[in-house]
Amino acid sequence: MIQAAIIILFTRRQYVLTLLYNPIQIATPYDRYPVRGKELSNIMLIDDSHILVEDDRIKDFIRKGHELPSGFDNFVNCTGKTIIPGLIDSHTHLVWGGFREEEFEQRATGVPYEEIARAGGGIASTVSRTRQKSLTELYDQSSRRMERVIKNGTTSIEIKSGYGLNFEDEVKMLKVIKQLKKDFPVNIRATFLGAHDIPKEYKNNREAYIKKVIEKMLPYVKENELADYADVFCDTIAFSYEETEKILQKASEIGLKIRLHADEIDNTRGAELAVKYGAKSADHLIKISHEGIKAVSNSDTAAALLPGTSFYLKKPFAPARHLIEENCIITVSTDLNPGSSVLERLPMAMFLAVWGYGMNINEVYNAVTVNAAYSLDLAPERGCIAKGKKADLLILDCENYKHIIYNYSANLVERVMINGAFF
Ligand code: NIG
Ligand code: FE
Repeated sequence: MIQAAIIILFTRRQYVLTLLYNPIQIATPYDRYPVRGKELSNIMLIDDSHILVEDDRIKDFIRKGHELPSGFDNFVNCTGKTIIPGLIDSHTHLVWGGFREEEFEQRATGVPYEEIARAGGGIASTVSRTRQKSLTELYDQSSRRMERVIKNGTTSIEIKSGYGLNFEDEVKMLKVIKQLKKDFPVNIRATFLGAHDIPKEYKNNREAYIKKVIEKMLPYVKENELADYADVFCDTIAFSYEETEKILQKASEIGLKIRLHADEIDNTRGAELAVKYGAKSADHLIKISHEGIKAVSNSDTAAALLPGTSFYLKKPFAPARHLIEENCIITVSTDLNPGSSVLERLPMAMFLAVWGYGMNINEVYNAVTVNAAYSLDLAPERGCIAKGKKADLLILDCENYKHIIYNYSANLVERVMINGAFF
């Protein structure tokens, strides 16, 4: 009896097989990381196969009409549905306290974002609201947001701190991100953005705050493995080129990789600085100069485009076509935050990239999959649908992959699979 039980235990399959049956279309970027220039327009379309998932990975494509494997554990009928890779949002500020709907209304009547910021609103107002929240309250607000983000198709995401701006509250934000990592299957990368703004207590002593970031915060964050990257808001309303460089120097020295808010409101040679420090990404780039484009061109630093911010702030769109012509690695993300881009839906950012940048749909797909995976050091495991890759997939309720962008208002994401399991 015991023997029989042991035999059954040992002969029983230890893995889970899921069959995604009969999708009308599978659309995926090619298995290349990163892609640039003309290659950005390439997407592979498969209409003759089912997908077999084993545990957390894509095991195989099975030709329609061929014999199906026996004994799969889950049969998912995808008839009439489209399958695409899970989307990767490589720039968000998903964790924050409170809201800023009053600023949204002010801006609608013509008050510029910079003016609101200089008057103590903007980032500063979210800082005070974030500081007021306990870790649990902040987690609660953020996890509800995360839930919606995933339901809209995001399966990997970068999240920044930057609304604490003192040691305790920055650490609190990073701990919230850590807790989200534990509780959600989504792949999370954390970025320390202690240099998002000068906090009000240091308005007349900028150097002292920068010193604190460099000497206290960065080493603590690194030692306690609270972040994968460091970021700075390099701009006229935040940190100068020289101030930013000091912070980046320290971050590099202690082994934190870099991402950089660069040339968003004004040109401060942020793109050039990002490339100089081998940043994974130079983000925003609305005001990037010709020299900046030359610097990012052919470099390993991704040009991280955030069309939701241009839209929400009524700012110009970054010169995406020029960046593509110059062979830059393009990513597109939401910049999800409470002030400049309250955008939880990555498909909406994808729509805005077509609408505002004149990118084609295939370029946008590559930007939010393989290139975003590259930028977040998730390549080559994620970002495309191929044998052996992690099974991060979306089942869309539409007849081809273009509809998720073309139909910008509906959420066509019917099911989200992360690491082989449905969310
Ligand atoms: O990426 N540019 C700096 N930070 C955010 C805005 C944050 C805010 O307004 O709260 C951004 O746009
Ligand atoms: Fe941002």
